[in-house]
Amino acid sequence: MEFRKDFIEKLKTAKSVVFFTGAGMSAESGIPTFRGEGGIWNKLNPEELANFSAFLKNPDMVWEWYQYRRNIINQNQPNAGHYAIAEMEKYFNKVTVVTQNVDNLHTRAGSKKVLELHGNIERNFCVDCNKFDYSPELNQSQKVPRCRHCGGLIRPDVVWFGEMLPQEIFAEAESVSRKADLFFVIGTSAVVYPAAYIPLNAKSSGAYIVEINVDETDISETVNYSIKGKAGEILPKILKLLDKKK
Ligand code: OAD
Repeated sequence: MEFRKDFIEKLKTAKSVVFFTGAGMSAESGIPTFRGEGGIWNKLNPEELANFSAFLKNPDMVWEWYQYRRNIINQNQPNAGHYAIAEMEKYFNKVTVVTQNVDNLHTRAGSKKVLELHGNIERNFCVDCNKFDYSPELNQSQKVPRCRHCGGLIRPDVVWFGEMLPQEIFAEAESVSRKADLFFVIGTSAVVYPAAYIPLNAKSSGAYIVEINVDETDISETVNYSIKGKAGEILPKILKLLDKKK
């Protein structure tokens, strides 16, 4: 495939690069997306599974659902797209991954600077005393575990509907995105706010925006260059262009 010339030029001169990723980034790792073909929210109701009052009403059911997702994530591996992003750190002064994904796959692939806007499914904390519990056996438990300090319910450290994003991480993501000269939007429907403000802010601060997605999205019209295709196929090709630059 041929990439557009203005993009290749930008790739040669960019210093600060941000990869903003969503569920489509991990689709080729075997992790279902939320929307679009085969999306989780086509079959299951987020109101019953991904909010705090649903958890209080039926903690075992919500916990079990997250355990199911953890198992899928643990049984699968980062894909060629995750590895290509990690590899690209060699070619720019600054590379930051800003992800909506909770699956930890960017870190597993070797990316060093990953800002997780929606948390991380591998961590858990107590809803009463807020203490984190990192015991590995928690992630084996089929029923919702209780806090070893206060007996409260343990929940996954993911952002549910209606909850605030981690404010410091969000602020840092905004700040690096506003300073980026090249900004990739990959595998996200870009409909969930406030995360979806980040690419818009990067654009208004002057970054060149490249979208990689198998479909058109809400942001396709706004970006500088929209590449239609799979993240796991397009990103290794971009890495090859950079190899030539060396
Ligand atoms: P979505 O499921 O909304 O969107 C996934 C996007 O990935 C779609 O636009 C697909 O077209 C695209 N896609 C699918 N396979 C792809 C591939 N192989 N390569 C490139 N693109 C591909 O996922 P998000 O935008 O991440 O929130 O969803 C945002 C948030 O909504 C999630 O973080 C989650 C969810 O509710 C929370 O958990 C708070």
